[in-house]
Amino acid sequence: MKRVLTGIKPTGSPHVGNLLGAIRPALRLADEGLEAMYFIADYHALTSVQDAARLAHLTREVAATWLAMGLDPERVLFYRQSDIPEIFELAWVLACFTSKGWMNKAHAYKAAVDANRERGEEDVDAGINMGVYEYPILMAADILAFDIDLVPVGKDQVQHLEIARDIAQRVNHVCGAEVLRLPAAKLDDNAAIVPGLDGRKMSKSYDNTIPLFAPAKQLRKIVSRIVTDSAPPEAPKDPDASTVFQIYRAIAPADAAAALAAKLRAGIGWGDAKTALYDQLEAALGPARVKYDVLMAAPEQLDALLAAGAARARPIARRVLDRVRHAIGVAS
Ligand code: TRP
Repeated sequence: MKRVLTGIKPTGSPHVGNLLGAIRPALRLADEGLEAMYFIADYHALTSVQDAARLAHLTREVAATWLAMGLDPERVLFYRQSDIPEIFELAWVLACFTSKGWMNKAHAYKAAVDANRERGEEDVDAGINMGVYEYPILMAADILAFDIDLVPVGKDQVQHLEIARDIAQRVNHVCGAEVLRLPAAKLDDNAAIVPGLDGRKMSKSYDNTIPLFAPAKQLRKIVSRIVTDSAPPEAPKDPDASTVFQIYRAIAPADAAAALAAKLRAGIGWGDAKTALYDQLEAALGPARVKYDVLMAAPEQLDALLAAGAARARPIARRVLDRVRHAIGVAS
């Protein structure tokens, strides 16, 4: 059976863009009979989230969100990265097989250096911690520790996957054996890119997101903030040029989307279109919100569930790490 893995970085509260772009596609994959491992990459988040209470809270929010949206922890190995020490031992070994030049070219680090240059900083590394620099090595360890075949990723993570493969190949080459399994990136074509309130891609960094589990009243308010043109209610409207409709289409059943498109072309007001969107969001998220609130109200149970997932995942990483230690000459 093919093994698939992905990591979720707890750096912000989950939003509708995460649901359609990552959560739903990943849950679908797990339903397709692959052996799925989904984990919360809390040590990756530590490169930017350094407030203890906030990191703990965001980690639980992410966990509760995936569970509320239907992740079955019996079938999917669901755990926190930080609960698996083997990953971090492997990361050191991998670092010793990684050219520093590869890390200089990794896009997140390069973007941070470029930003410093643009700002006219004298030190181009100003404010960049080593965690940011080594991020791709830790990500390689996340994957290689579990003999993973497939990693569903967005375009922004493809380079990280290439680095993971390069490192694995270097280890295998130097050790003269197939010590590490080479993972393949799986770009999901079904993963929807959803616009945010202002029409740009929905993203925490644009501050234009629709949170998944805001209380109903707040959700209605947020939907009312979606930017539209100032066409009068009766004017015919192009659904494809409308942010309201694009979000609607991503969340609603196809027949409902076709019906709203027809109404927009015939001419309905933006207020009515937004109410239709709110109703769909509430239908899609309302029941999950109830589950989410129950999960968030019992943080110790959430933590225990993640710890149980880690306990099941660790033996896999242990076997891989033992193989690696043997291959590099530190086996006891
Ligand atoms: N870097 C990924 C992101 O920012 C998160 C991540 C960490 C990950 N480790 C991973 C994704 C391993 C896939 C596999 O979204």
